[in-house]
Amino acid sequence: MDDSKPSSALDLSVAQPYPLWARIRAERPVMRLEASSVGPAPTFLVSRHEDAERVLRDPETFSSAINNEIAGKYMGESMLGMDGDEHRQYRDLVAHAFRASVLDRWDGALVRPTLHALLDGIAPAGRADLMRDVVLKYPVQVICGIIGVPLHDQEQLARWSEEIIQGPLDPPRGVASSRAMRGYLAGIVEARRREPAGDLISELLAAEIDGQRLTEERIYGFLLLLLPAGAETTLRVLGNALVALLTRPAMMAQVVADRSLIPAVVEETLRWETSVTLISRVAARDTEIAGCPIPAGAVINVLTGSAGRDEARYAAADAFRLDRPPQRHLAFGTGPHQCLGLHLARLEMRVGLDAILDRLPNLRLDPDAPAPEIKGFAFRNPDAIHVLFDPS
Ligand code: HEM
Repeated sequence: MDDSKPSSALDLSVAQPYPLWARIRAERPVMRLEASSVGPAPTFLVSRHEDAERVLRDPETFSSAINNEIAGKYMGESMLGMDGDEHRQYRDLVAHAFRASVLDRWDGALVRPTLHALLDGIAPAGRADLMRDVVLKYPVQVICGIIGVPLHDQEQLARWSEEIIQGPLDPPRGVASSRAMRGYLAGIVEARRREPAGDLISELLAAEIDGQRLTEERIYGFLLLLLPAGAETTLRVLGNALVALLTRPAMMAQVVADRSLIPAVVEETLRWETSVTLISRVAARDTEIAGCPIPAGAVINVLTGSAGRDEARYAAADAFRLDRPPQRHLAFGTGPHQCLGLHLARLEMRVGLDAILDRLPNLRLDPDAPAPEIKGFAFRNPDAIHVLFDPS
């Protein structure tokens, strides 16, 4: 590896990081970056599955506090940046609102109707950009529905959410969007306080464990996190799954004929092309990872995108295959911060793929449009997916 350019390993403008990550895994699996290129603290990349899992499962040594330093300005006081008892208590309070019976209710009342309304809009046309017309709207509309945001405000919410997630790249805009979104949500929170409606915000306002309730600050922190964490992530993986199938027509035909393969499509996409490729931690004490000394205060970037392609864990790791034995992946993280919305995300992706294949028969890429490309470093997705299908 070229020691003169270690910072290229964290160049967020790289569109295709997998070749670089493969080299890091092979040559320097725990890699120190030049401090000057990424900030004052020593910064390390962790690229192998085994090491990534170890870091994420050891919250005493690898603290999440860094997440509030990076994103707190935009997302408010978020659970992503909490540790220990504080995190456990907060998570217990909000997790209640994501229990299985609630998920069942959202499935029939929100997830399916949202998607079918979007597909109604394109089914007669015989052609579409699946990103613009369906994927970019669907998970955003689901989360907005869960929060209780009316349909006519959802595009605005989606714009704020995108600007919040890109906050570290454009801080003034990220902060402005965060303020605007909080102001908007305050209206809904106040309305639910006056008149509970049995929805997510009403549940958060009422949630109480051992006499503890969520403070106002924490309710906003949770709501501000939900759109970027729940929608931006899911829509990207759904887009990546569609690209995987559309660029493999034989596999697409197999899945169209046998829908029981859809869960395998979802899990393989999460391993092969997850949308969140990097999770940050900070070392709470002097330690080591795979023999590499890590000083207290060092920033650890766990490359979950790289872990999903680790040849030591997955045979032919770069290949997209539906016949792999079931094997855990790190797309939703692991340990105490493991994604709270993973059941909802899986549900949305399963329902999404199934309905798209049902409602858009003979679905294929438009040969006259540019082929879709999944790209990005920290967040990966295609910009557009131009398709043709039989109108109905
Ligand atoms: C495919 C879609 C998704 C992916 C790839 C994803 C990924 C992740 C990852 C990697 C984490 C762990 C972060 C860390 O350890 O620092 C996380 C946490 C979280 N996710 Fe997701 N997520 C997805 C969908 C969702 C959805 C649909 C929701 C909610 C509606 C959601 C809500 C959350 C929350 C609240 C946390 C914080 C949990 C905690 O700090 O304890 N996510 N997600």
